[in-house]
Amino acid sequence: MSQTGKKVGTVRLQNLSYAHKQSAVLMAAVELDLFTHVSRGSSRLPELAEALTISKVNAERLLVACCALDLIAKSGDTYENAPDVERFLVKDKPTYIGPWMLFPLMDFEKWRDLGAALKSSDRPKTLGLYETLTDEMAVEYHNATYSVGLGAGMLFARDVDMSNRSLILDLGGGSGAYCIAAVQKYPHLHAVVLDFETVCKVTNRFIAEWGMSDNISTHPGDFTRDQLPQGADLMIMASNLPQYSDGMLIQIMTKAYNSLKSGGEFHLVGETLNDEKTGPLGPALWGVHEALFGSEGRSHSESEVRFYLETAGFSDVSVNEFIPGSLSRITGTKY
Ligand SMILES: C[S@@+](CC[C@H](N)C(=O)[O-])C[C@H]1O[C@@H](n2cnc3c(N)ncnc32)[C@H](O)[C@@H]1O
Repeated sequence: MSQTGKKVGTVRLQNLSYAHKQSAVLMAAVELDLFTHVSRGSSRLPELAEALTISKVNAERLLVACCALDLIAKSGDTYENAPDVERFLVKDKPTYIGPWMLFPLMDFEKWRDLGAALKSSDRPKTLGLYETLTDEMAVEYHNATYSVGLGAGMLFARDVDMSNRSLILDLGGGSGAYCIAAVQKYPHLHAVVLDFETVCKVTNRFIAEWGMSDNISTHPGDFTRDQLPQGADLMIMASNLPQYSDGMLIQIMTKAYNSLKSGGEFHLVGETLNDEKTGPLGPALWGVHEALFGSEGRSHSESEVRFYLETAGFSDVSVNEFIPGSLSRITGTKY
């Protein structure tokens, strides 16, 4: 019995210990396009086995696990996608995030060595994972971030009034998703995506696909070391937060403050923790991720980010809901 008098069991712990199987089931289902076939009308086991070109017994194994994970619901002998699966995991829908779901395969094996990574006394590398980013990795990485980032960029463009802005600088803009969504909503805007040279090659492809090369350009560089382009009246830094230490974040934000136009706004969209630092789970795990890649980074709480922005000189710093449980948007103004 626990102190609260409730019976204590092992099931929760066992499920956590075997959680890699849950990820593997989800990723296999995405890889095999299970949810797409369900959405297109294959709703029974024999049709699904045929559509996926796997044996009936393997189709049953996969479907049972997907039901247990609440990815799929079963009624009689027919299967139906859960609402989030139907919206985000059906190929050809503009909301499809399959590449982002498969992205963890890149470091799936590495997590086996987390204990050793946590004990490592190697000197941390400021850029962690990015120290060894190749052209090939950048393509795979940003096909994945684009699939999930475009939706986030649209949310940003919905929440932030950019009608009186003229130039965005997106620090670590990756695929360019935030700038693409901003220009789509506000066609008068110009934007610069600053990212590593390997990444900018991928960014240029996405910008060209959207026919936005006149509005959006790339600026190869490293925002920890290089000068930032001057003259932006809106700056974004999205999904980079756990990568860096508090000291480095204050340095980056100070640089951002100095290069921003007076009256401009800085928006940090980050994987923030609550102020007690007890969650949410996603941001907490991104912090752990940094130990695997040997950076100086960790997860930061909303009030810590507020403090970094104020230390850099920003006023009217506010924390705004963005994607609850995943990202918040913390904003400051330069007067
Ligand atoms: C997780 S991705 C997010 C991309 C984009 N902001 C989004 O939300 O879709 C992080 C991006 O930041 C870039 N980045 C991280 N540190 C950087 C640095 N020091 N200088 C330039 N780019 C950096 C990475 O190359 C990568 O493209």
